[in-house]
Amino acid sequence: MKKYILILLSIILIFSCTKKISTKVQLNQKVDSVLNLMTIDEKIGQMVLYASDGDVTGSKIKSGLVEDIRNGNCGNILNAYSVAYTRKLQKIAVEESRLKIPLLFGYDVIHGHKTIFPISLGESASWDMEAIEKGARVAAIEAAASGLNWTFAPMVDVSVEPRWGRVSEGAGEDPFLGAKIAAARVRGFQGKDNNLADSLTILACVKHFAAYGAPQAGRDYNTVDMSHRVFLDTYLPPYKAAIEAGAMSVMTSFNELDGIPSTANKYLLTDLLRSEMGFKGLVVTDYTSINEMVNHGVAANEAQAGLMAIKAGVDMDMQGEVYFKYLKKQVEDGMLDEKLIDDAVRRVLRVKFLLGLFDDPYRYCNEAREKRLIYAPEHLEAALDVAKKSMVLLKNDNQVLPLKKGEKIAVIGELAASTRDLLGSWKAAGDWDFMKSTLEEIKAFNGDKNVFFAEGCKTSGDDRSGFSLALSTARKADKIVLVIGENWEWSGEAASRTSIQIPGVQTELLEKLKALNKPIVVVLMNGRPLDLSRENQLADAMLETWYAGTMGGKAITQVLYGEYNPSGKLTMTFPVNLGQVPIYYYAKNTGRPIYLENPKYKSRYIDAPNDPLFPFGYGLSYTTFEYSDIQLSANELKPDGELKANVTVKNTGKYDGEEVVQMYVRDLVGSVTRPVKELKGFEKITLKAGESKTVSFSITPDMLAFHRLDMSYGTEPGDYKLFIGGNSRDVKETTFTTPNP
Ligand code: NOJ
Repeated sequence: MKKYILILLSIILIFSCTKKISTKVQLNQKVDSVLNLMTIDEKIGQMVLYASDGDVTGSKIKSGLVEDIRNGNCGNILNAYSVAYTRKLQKIAVEESRLKIPLLFGYDVIHGHKTIFPISLGESASWDMEAIEKGARVAAIEAAASGLNWTFAPMVDVSVEPRWGRVSEGAGEDPFLGAKIAAARVRGFQGKDNNLADSLTILACVKHFAAYGAPQAGRDYNTVDMSHRVFLDTYLPPYKAAIEAGAMSVMTSFNELDGIPSTANKYLLTDLLRSEMGFKGLVVTDYTSINEMVNHGVAANEAQAGLMAIKAGVDMDMQGEVYFKYLKKQVEDGMLDEKLIDDAVRRVLRVKFLLGLFDDPYRYCNEAREKRLIYAPEHLEAALDVAKKSMVLLKNDNQVLPLKKGEKIAVIGELAASTRDLLGSWKAAGDWDFMKSTLEEIKAFNGDKNVFFAEGCKTSGDDRSGFSLALSTARKADKIVLVIGENWEWSGEAASRTSIQIPGVQTELLEKLKALNKPIVVVLMNGRPLDLSRENQLADAMLETWYAGTMGGKAITQVLYGEYNPSGKLTMTFPVNLGQVPIYYYAKNTGRPIYLENPKYKSRYIDAPNDPLFPFGYGLSYTTFEYSDIQLSANELKPDGELKANVTVKNTGKYDGEEVVQMYVRDLVGSVTRPVKELKGFEKITLKAGESKTVSFSITPDMLAFHRLDMSYGTEPGDYKLFIGGNSRDVKETTFTTPNP
């Protein structure tokens, strides 16, 4: 019997493999059947991506777009959305161009299309993979409904650099968590089974490849220089996870790495991405990044830059017009093998086939569907859910929060009354007239007559003329809710800062309000870790809300009033001051760690502590959690074995709540120095007041692997520490060993 089952299983396996192979062969045949018909101009047309007159993030170059589509000189468009518009352009491509090849429509659908979710850094603080995947799913559904088939997301750049405005678009400082989130977002955009032919999935684009998150001094587009080991162990994992999850496009980054701009980096785009990581999709540049190689100083002119890009493995030139202008001539002059063009075009066409565009180029162009799905109630519900989960309670002295319904409160701050700021940067098609501000939501919940508002001051500038009205308004209230932070333009692309303090005179206003001796709740809106040392001294409670999206005002209100108990945990360290930056929990111990007896000659500052203000993984709740000691199934982890680490977490407070239980490991002696902690597991649990739960983590040798002295990837035998806790600082610990194999 067993034998027959085995035979049957083998037949099924062979059949499914053969089916896969034959589907692949068929796809390749289809691609080649189109390629064989193409002139060189038409081929190059598939290798360009031009901006329509929507959002622009650099200089706009291309005019005559419609003619280009008609002539087969433009196969892909960015920043065009809505069914009416995309249908119009698609119609030109498939009804008026010679070969009728459908267009790709790409757009920066980063944290929602119409229904805007919290900025990605905020979403990451939920540590809730289901909610994050759902966010990307909803974004994909709305984008697809709106005529789009490609998003320039997820952005998976690890960063320890709060000066860099683009940390708001990523998942924070940690490679392990970043990898989980990258995969969740790809699943959300492309669908769980990666069925791009489903007309409610869109093509994901992993960006920015690679290491864009480490610009020197935090200045956007600046030089990146790091050891190859750090690149592989810390910066690469999220890109890798996204590719493994099936992402079918990758965007190059603006930066150089080890002296080579990414767009010309053959090691990155061909050797690593395609050969080692097995990526089968298309590689697109970032906006005019081929042209920028001239400024980088590795190409004397654009023609040379284009040659370098295609040879490195770039399939598509975003907005630069370099491929359009020079590739044909370079083939004619014998400088470029047409085979490289064919390979690139194949990759573009393959994606178009996978999206089902050759079967039905209008599959994303259904007006009724667009109407039905944009701002669908379940989308708004999902946005509200993750917005609440993304908020991080940083401080709550004397249980000032949650607020009680009916209490008289003064809501102060420009950001309280703003809807635009709630959307953050990359708001895609998000519409701020559609939504309500935090102030409106608080009034709706607490009753108009119990809420007094004054702007106090702007988020930037030094105008203090609103202070006195803010103070008199606050005097009438039992508690003060001060909404401060950065306005939306202060984070995102090209929004680097040299100070990470709350800008303008907002903190000064807080100081004045403090003198009234009333409880003060600071609600923060910002897109990066801030130096909150001063605010931490002044405020009784602080709630980090990021830019919480279309439903942000309601989410903030529900958290403030305890309708939702905050559960978010920071995914980037918040420093005591900017001088500590870069500061991250997976630092090395150094030869002179701060805990040494020697009072002076050790790795420390003389004017500030080494510890941050709020560590990675940190976040309070309205309830409290107690952790038991760790129970380890054995003290030794065999080369092919597994350890179970159990910890019991008890909700010791009065509220039901959620806790993110985090597991970290330290490899005590390595062939190269190892971080003092590395996140290796986490689980978000819900506990009723008084309830306990045991969380069980598995530890296997592959989880301990890294690039060793000889750059081989693997685990080393030796002693390890294991930590479990509610953040990266406050943990229980134990030890285990891995024996020599
Ligand atoms: C430049 C940005 O770096 C990138 O993230 C974005 O996708 C493109 N512009 C297109 O808007």
